[in-house]
Amino acid sequence: MKIQIINGPNLNLLGIRETGIYGETNFESFLDQLKNEFPDVEINFFQSNIEGEIIDKLHQTGFSVDGIILNAAAYTHTSVAIGDAIKAIKTPVVEVHISNIFSREDFRHVSFIAPYCRGTITGFGLQSYRLALLSFLEGAL
Ligand code: DQA
Repeated sequence: MKIQIINGPNLNLLGIRETGIYGETNFESFLDQLKNEFPDVEINFFQSNIEGEIIDKLHQTGFSVDGIILNAAAYTHTSVAIGDAIKAIKTPVVEVHISNIFSREDFRHVSFIAPYCRGTITGFGLQSYRLALLSFLEGAL
């Protein structure tokens, strides 16, 4: 099984940025753990702070991999274009967030991508990505 993880803006600073909200682990360390735990899954990772690059990656991978795990970060709450890209591709996308977006500011309660995703996992820290991966492994609809 091939899974693409896509992280959006400011998530390159995980482990440094607002650690009270996002924790002290950097994403690369977490990714190593995830790859060790699921050696039979090909997990590819991409991060960008640029909306168009996230869209390009959705287009590039969205007809070939088995699942996409997307944390669009702040673009979740603003990007019609990323929502359209998810609609345009064939691969199912699971939306993830490290924090619980519904327990934060009102503007974070809106997701422009959620309607086009298979589901949303929010608030479980970095384990949100692991739960998303499990959802693909268990073939959740
Ligand atoms: C986030 C939540 C977003 O509201 C925020 O803009 C982020 C990270 C999360 O993973 O909790 O950058 O997507």
